Amino acid sequence: MSDLIEGYLGKTVEGKKSRVPAKLDYIQSATGLFLALFMWGHMFMVSSILVSKDFMYSVTKFFEASFIFDGGNPLLVSILALVIFIIFIVHAAMGMRKLPGNFKQYQVMKAHADNMGHEDTKLWFIQAFTGFAMFFLGSVHIYIIMTHSDAIGPYASSDRVWSEWMWPLYILLLLAVEFHGTIGLYRLAVKWGWFDGKDPKASRKRLKTYKKALTYFFLILGFATLAAYMKIGMEHADKAGERYVPSAKVMEYKINNGRVA
Ligand code: HEM
Repeated sequence: MSDLIEGYLGKTVEGKKSRVPAKLDYIQSATGLFLALFMWGHMFMVSSILVSKDFMYSVTKFFEASFIFDGGNPLLVSILALVIFIIFIVHAAMGMRKLPGNFKQYQVMKAHADNMGHEDTKLWFIQAFTGFAMFFLGSVHIYIIMTHSDAIGPYASSDRVWSEWMWPLYILLLLAVEFHGTIGLYRLAVKWGWFDGKDPKASRKRLKTYKKALTYFFLILGFATLAAYMKIGMEHADKAGERYVPSAKVMEYKINNGRVA
């Protein structure tokens, strides 16, 4: 009954307003923070290919817990991807509340932002645009990884990027995720006053510099990584599907004079 009264009047019988919007804002911030930090970790793991194929292979096997299961178990990666997917969907659902619902609302927001000429208000538009793009781009990637977790590795990933045409999607996803992630972290810090210090105006200026530096850093790292997967994928195109054999295994094979141990 109380819900019904609040639904019609916007206030409870005690004359109070719902705390749900504040709780949803908190969930949006918490899931956003988690995803942004996850993406930093993810970019470092994926960029292991820049060191060597063997190194990327070892990182993959580590996430498959090869130190527990002989040869690794990709199911663990599928479970991780599922957990990330659920958090991603919750974050997107919370973000949807902030998007304009019709053209009139969009027009009002746009006029307000143009009129204010305030950089942080403009950042909101980038967040809304990149967030919307990730509904589609992010979902495609996470679903493929979740259902093909056994096909991650120096050749399997490069074949997916090149021979299976993921590179155009990754270019767009990389741009969206890097802008969205660093702007999101900046906005979180400003919203919750994490690094306000004695002079919030000066700290906001400093935070903006960090934001810019982090965006450049992860974009350069990301595009260098993508270029590496594309190059390996191109060179491996006629043998697409064939899996990488780490150097240690090749040496073992040679020591055994071509006999499979
Ligand atoms: C547990 C979840 C995830 C796993 C295991 C994972 C794994 C991977 C792997 C192995 C690659 C290399 C290319 C390939 O194999 O296809 C990759 C690339 C990429 N992933 Fe993820 N990913 C996950 C979640 C995400 C999420 C949530 C996002 C952003 C929404 C994301 C964005 C990207 C981007 C942009 C690339 C291309 C990066 C580059 O080449 O620089 N991933 N991911």
